[in-house]
Amino acid sequence: MTTGLWIILDHVVALLSIAMWFAAGVTLALRRPRLALAALVAAMLVTLVRGVTVTILAGQGWWFVQEKVLLGLPMLGAAAAAAVLLAGPQLLAARRGRGDGSSPAAVVSVLGAAYAALAGLVVTFLVGYPLTLTAALITISLVCAGALLTARVVTSPADSTADAGVAQAPEGGRTISRRRFIGWTGGAVAVTAAGAGTGLSFLPAESVTLGGGAGRSARSAVSVADLRGSRSPAPGGIVRRHVLTAKKATVRLASGREIEAWTYNGEVPGPAITATQGDLIEVRLHNADIEGGVTLHWHGYDVPCGEDGVPGVTQMAVGPGAEFVYRFRADQAGTYWYHTHHASHIGVRKGLYGALVVNPRGGQRADEHSAAEQVDLTLPVHTFDGTVVIAGKDGRTEHPAPPGTPVRLRLINTDSEPHRIVLAGTPFRVAAIDGRDLNQPGEVRDVSLHLPAGGRYDLVFAMPDTSVALVVDDDRDGGLRLRPRGDASGGVPVEDTSDLPLLDLLRYGAPAAVPFDARKADRHFTMVLDRGVAMVDGRPAYAHTVNGRGHPSIPDQLVAEGDIVRFTVVNRSLETHPWHLHGHPVLILSRDGTPSTGSPLWVDTFDVRPGETWEAAFRATNPGIWMNHCHNLPHAEQGMMLQLRYDGVTTPFSGSRGGAAGHVH
Ligand code: C2O
Ligand code: CU
Repeated sequence: MTTGLWIILDHVVALLSIAMWFAAGVTLALRRPRLALAALVAAMLVTLVRGVTVTILAGQGWWFVQEKVLLGLPMLGAAAAAAVLLAGPQLLAARRGRGDGSSPAAVVSVLGAAYAALAGLVVTFLVGYPLTLTAALITISLVCAGALLTARVVTSPADSTADAGVAQAPEGGRTISRRRFIGWTGGAVAVTAAGAGTGLSFLPAESVTLGGGAGRSARSAVSVADLRGSRSPAPGGIVRRHVLTAKKATVRLASGREIEAWTYNGEVPGPAITATQGDLIEVRLHNADIEGGVTLHWHGYDVPCGEDGVPGVTQMAVGPGAEFVYRFRADQAGTYWYHTHHASHIGVRKGLYGALVVNPRGGQRADEHSAAEQVDLTLPVHTFDGTVVIAGKDGRTEHPAPPGTPVRLRLINTDSEPHRIVLAGTPFRVAAIDGRDLNQPGEVRDVSLHLPAGGRYDLVFAMPDTSVALVVDDDRDGGLRLRPRGDASGGVPVEDTSDLPLLDLLRYGAPAAVPFDARKADRHFTMVLDRGVAMVDGRPAYAHTVNGRGHPSIPDQLVAEGDIVRFTVVNRSLETHPWHLHGHPVLILSRDGTPSTGSPLWVDTFDVRPGETWEAAFRATNPGIWMNHCHNLPHAEQGMMLQLRYDGVTTPFSGSRGGAAGHVH
């Protein structure tokens, strides 16, 4: 069973225990001793089972259970023990026909256990990891307050009179004074805890984490505004000039449907930018009428920081009528893409994106053929109002490919959710991931691939003499077809693809040397992803959080140039988070403790599914201030975004919504 399923099971058991404790408390209060006894036994059993699920989860990592082990279970355990001691003997006596099993103390203690069980689950959902003293104190105070309130209700004068005939009711005077005593101490605990908790919450939070490395040095500062790209191509390269105008437009999709899109140059996707390694790419971005502003971010491309296109960090957003010129050398070959980074959860979805493809210089690649004899298709996958479109801007979903032709399909996931990809009708290789070639990728067939949001896969094969189908999300009628004779004659019906096993890319291809030893990391940052109540852009929200906080309150990660940096990314939530660092490819080390044993896997986006723990590493060789965020763009907007900051780099730009987020007016 996966950790994700254990998380869900633990939630279910927690819910059951809440239900059982409340059932026991209510039946007790209603003086139904038989039912109350059964419910109390059930509650105890479920609570014990909870101990088991939490222990198993703890085996997957402390991050998954910290608040349960330190607060939820001890609180429930103490309350449960009190409940059993106070209510148990009375209920057993009632079974033997003595009394009705119900005293105010018993009712209060059993309901107290119910409150403790409920509070534990609420803390898991609203606070999560890490548990703060603030949260713990406030929770304890609320449970005490709940128990006190209950005590008031069940021992109200009317009730006491009704209780008068009950066997175990002590004489009035003693009950009152004991009740007073319990009331005063309970009240004092509740008030102190609440006060201390609230006070603590006003302590300023740290603004930077060091990951075990040195703090800020006194070195002289360089501004991101000065970290700009080269102004000339490498010897032999040329300058590739583009003008991209961001504007609203009505765009007709291949299906004939018209959409109101936000576009670069009136096209969706925007114009493909292609270059050969060593060329200089120069793009003049002009904003015609996108009111909130736009930028160009070169996703996965390790441009100098000043070209990275993050509003409020590396530049200001380009408003209507304004311009910004990006310039950088195309040093890395491969499949990349560009998109706006301002209010990107809206802008990218509406169409502000396009492909960036850089061909290797010299054609050393085995599959390099002249343009006439190969099929090389760049295929951004994008969902418009629920319809998945994978064609390029010409809208064609059928392509001729004579048998034997080398084919390269460059898939780009421009959505915020992963896509399941199947290539039916041919064996193939995954030649590159996120623009970087894999080492000795083996031939596979009848497998499925999971393409993370923002990620790219280059699939290569030699065209067979029957047709090939690219199937996205198991939609056998949609997708893309390659026909050996250009007509439908070579067509074979696509079989059901939904059962095909997932190709595990951590075991695909052959190992090779990597340029650094990740075990000797200079810094190690852990990011625990979850949902919870946190401040996002100055407002409380049910946020997508990193270590319990939302953007921009998540501490910056400080690195120094040359550091080897290690990331542990843990997903405690029930959603997939495509983790994305700007400016650096990261090397995947392991998933759930199992090391990567295939080709070195250099990616810029990796899907961390519920319950998963990923380890990745990179060398800090590109000074700047870099966004480090979830590429499910609405998640980033709702808090799941932070900055990796090089020592000595500053920014003159600001704006609380400088990241993937941003107001659209
Ligand atoms: Cu493709 Cu910060 O994004
Ligand atoms: Cu996410």
